[in-house]
Amino acid sequence: MSALFTPFKLKDVTLRNRVAIPPMCQYSAEDGMANDWHQVHYAGLARGGAGLVIVEATAVSPEGRITPACLGIWNDEQAEKLAQIARDIKAAGAVPGIQIAHAGRKASANKPWEGDDHLPDSDPRSWQTLAPSAIAFGANLPKVPKAMSQQEIHQVTADFAAAAKRARDAGFEWLELHFAHGYLAQSFFSTHSNQRDDEYGGSLAGRSRFLLETLEAVRGVWPENLPLTARFGVIEYDGRDEETLAESIQLTRQMRQGGLDLLSVSVGFSTPEANIPWGPAFLAPVARKVREEADLPVASAWGIDSALNADRCVANHDLDLVMIGRAFLADPHYTLRLAQQLKVERPTWVLPAPYAHWLERYRLSE
Ligand SMILES: Cc1cc2nc3c(=O)[nH]c(=O)nc-3n(C[C@H](O)[C@H](O)[C@H](O)COP(=O)(O)O)c2cc1C
Repeated sequence: MSALFTPFKLKDVTLRNRVAIPPMCQYSAEDGMANDWHQVHYAGLARGGAGLVIVEATAVSPEGRITPACLGIWNDEQAEKLAQIARDIKAAGAVPGIQIAHAGRKASANKPWEGDDHLPDSDPRSWQTLAPSAIAFGANLPKVPKAMSQQEIHQVTADFAAAAKRARDAGFEWLELHFAHGYLAQSFFSTHSNQRDDEYGGSLAGRSRFLLETLEAVRGVWPENLPLTARFGVIEYDGRDEETLAESIQLTRQMRQGGLDLLSVSVGFSTPEANIPWGPAFLAPVARKVREEADLPVASAWGIDSALNADRCVANHDLDLVMIGRAFLADPHYTLRLAQQLKVERPTWVLPAPYAHWLERYRLSE
């Protein structure tokens, strides 16, 4: 019996299995609007059999985009396009999720395949980036952000709440707040980027304030019966891991008390100096620690793409949900491969009938 292919219930939502596709930016939008590319991409992923498909980082404001080609949800027209994607994901039997985001000091960048660096100030598509303090990330992202006023901080919190409301009205049933990867929320939490001396910086409580206030504002508009989740970098691999992880667990407990239903455990990516121990499922033991100490369901990604590893993460109670990204870009029907390798009964039926029927007796390679 495969643990990966058991259903997962959170609030009133039941995923058909524990395979989740994490948010993956497509850098293919114009003015934040989804188009045919996104439509086909997300429907295809959902038809591939995963339990949950989370739409890529979708900006809560124009300056919250990573690149000029990122999705947005700061107006109703954008939300209308996203609603069609939510419907397509749901029609294929997966739960439609969306990640809402503000890129902070990592915003105003080129697409990864066009340099992955900051747009020069001379580029008319560039914009002023925002962060808790006027400290650049460094390396390929040297642009110095503007230190936000408290009014600007409150505006971003309000933008997150407005985005959550639009996501709800668009039919998404799973919301993920992007509090990870060195983007705005993570940069409030991290001392690498937050050197403020007001109540949004300094102590753990100060560095947690923006995240907790944003969670509270979103909780106020996101339906109580639907999962409200966050992706958060609980560790940086910068030599201060014990302290950072302890602080992260403390914040996770507070987020649970504030109505968070699940944490997607990730890396902080707050400094280019990190020494990340890349390897298969390297974050799973960290996620398990968060799960146990913060008493909250967890998901995680990064290199959990072999069937045995993915299954073991669930069976061992390291993870409630396994996020698998790039393997689905290589093969949108990757769930079928997982099902075959885990000897699930009639594995082809993880795909929709118009595919499954024909594959039932067809000899598939694993
Ligand atoms: C093309 C691409 C885009 C990504 N975009 C996002 C994103 O929008 N939000 C996010 O939290 N992580 C993003 N990530 C990270 C993925 O969600 C995931 O954590 C990563 O691919 C590791 O999982 P994997 O080893 O299964 O691919 C992206 C990764 C890729 C490859």
